[in-house]
Amino acid sequence: MKSSSLGFGVLATVLFLSACSGPRQTPFEIIPDMDHQAKWKAQMENPFFADRRASRKPVEGTVAQGKLFDDDAYHLGVVDGTYIGRNPEKLTKELVVYGQRKFNTYCSPCHGQTGDGKGIVAQRSLWQVGNLQEPRVKDYPDGEIYSIASDGRRQMNGYRNQVSDHDRWAIVSYVRALQRASAAPLTDVPTELQGSLH
Ligand code: HEC
Repeated sequence: MKSSSLGFGVLATVLFLSACSGPRQTPFEIIPDMDHQAKWKAQMENPFFADRRASRKPVEGTVAQGKLFDDDAYHLGVVDGTYIGRNPEKLTKELVVYGQRKFNTYCSPCHGQTGDGKGIVAQRSLWQVGNLQEPRVKDYPDGEIYSIASDGRRQMNGYRNQVSDHDRWAIVSYVRALQRASAAPLTDVPTELQGSLH
């Protein structure tokens, strides 16, 4: 055996044994890195404070950056217990196209790309997924669809934590476009394309 590989073998054995020093003994540390740091972890006791808790509550009234939700109409879609009637976002083509992208990601697996409730999850399970084309749902105010997308309803979970406020309003605008499209009169189609419909 060459001496370099013998040396390696010895070193590997020493390292192996030092790692096996048992739970009660401090391991032999060649390079301690940053294993030991002067810091307080959550749930630790800290005698500095009267209640001896290391974890401190944020100062009252603290708001995390970007988390000031003081506009109920925009954040909840509800004001004084009533759903708001209209989408507070400015309705533009960009918003609806963006809403389409988000709807296809977050809603269509269950509700289907047209919102008829026949998405892949509905097809492969016994789940009764809501049909967004129903007249009853068409009559919902914008705020109600937004509120369902945010906090869910009955068997559906909310998507408040996955989809931002702005994106949920964009989805609402697209759901409205889908509902309109499902019962669109011929006059909604540009004149030059009307002839191509059967
Ligand atoms: C994991 C499956 C699933 C996803 C994803 C999903 N939904 Fe639903 N949704 C349901 C089910 C199931 C119901 C019916 C709930 C019930 O009535 O028990 C429902 C109901 C609804 C209703 C009410 C329909 C009615 O008949 O009153 C609306 C509106 C709605 N969903 C919108 C959305 C929107 C918008 C999204 C995307 C942000 C979304 N859903 C994502 C499963 C889903």
